[in-house]
Amino acid sequence: MSGTIDIETKDGVALLVMNRPEKKNALTDAMYHALADGMAAAEADAAVGAVLLAGAGGNFTTGNDIVDFLAASKGGANGGAGGRGVGRFLMAQVEGKKPLIAAVEGLAVGVGATTLFQCDLVYAAESASIRTPFVDLGLVPENGSSLLAPQLMGHQRAFEMLALSEPFDARRAEAAGIVNRVVPAESLMETALAAARRLAAKPREALLATRAMLRPDPEAVKAVSLAESRAFAERLGSAEARAAFEGFLARKA
Ligand code: COA
Repeated sequence: MSGTIDIETKDGVALLVMNRPEKKNALTDAMYHALADGMAAAEADAAVGAVLLAGAGGNFTTGNDIVDFLAASKGGANGGAGGRGVGRFLMAQVEGKKPLIAAVEGLAVGVGATTLFQCDLVYAAESASIRTPFVDLGLVPENGSSLLAPQLMGHQRAFEMLALSEPFDARRAEAAGIVNRVVPAESLMETALAAARRLAAKPREALLATRAMLRPDPEAVKAVSLAESRAFAERLGSAEARAAFEGFLARKA
């Protein structure tokens, strides 16, 4: 299956780009592993002071590959929350100590959206559309989002996104506190890279200590994320979820 994570480390910043534009950067198990590996390498590299996530071809990511979800739903080993890669990627977000930044253009769906709640800074282009169609797919929230989203934007807006599955455009996401700043698409990467470079150039110990103080207790987030993953894995095998995946894959037929 196609799809890569392009990794470049420069000026103290590890840039991880999800690159599968023909599927709007939908994530496969191999891509999750590559993201987790890239984040682990960035944590271990003393030269890296910040991690920046982005997507190729005008979208951030449409989240987990629905083909893999359907395989997991049927008991396959290589899909969604049933796959090992996604768990590693989610734990890398919870356990990472270095600032995590996102540059969001276009679609940020499912785990593409919940990853933003784990970030320290998020920059978005006007085209950004942030959505979590978990319930529509017969699923439940993941990646600590049932804890982090209400903390970030309050219960009603979190419910609107996570339960009603209402898409938030760039301006709405900025007003809700998910996005720091909306910028023109042509300056998105430069804006996000500049912030990442500024963080990477700061006194490292003070930066990491400040980040740790500002973030919610990682053990609490981890416990919620793992409990969500168990519920998610159960839902993957449900008739509701299977019907939704089959409906998506059949919609153009
Ligand atoms: N898994 C698998 N394939 C996906 C995908 C995903 N998550 N997201 C997009 N694709 C594929 C589409 O099937 C399509 O493939 P095709 O050209 O071979 O038919 C291609 O990527 C382009 O996407 P398309 O659906 O044509 O784009 P769109 O602009 O009409 O719609 C979305 C965009 C995001 C509304 C739609 O692709 C979608 O709902 N994707 C699923 C998102 C999702 O539910 N993710 C899981 C969240 S838990």
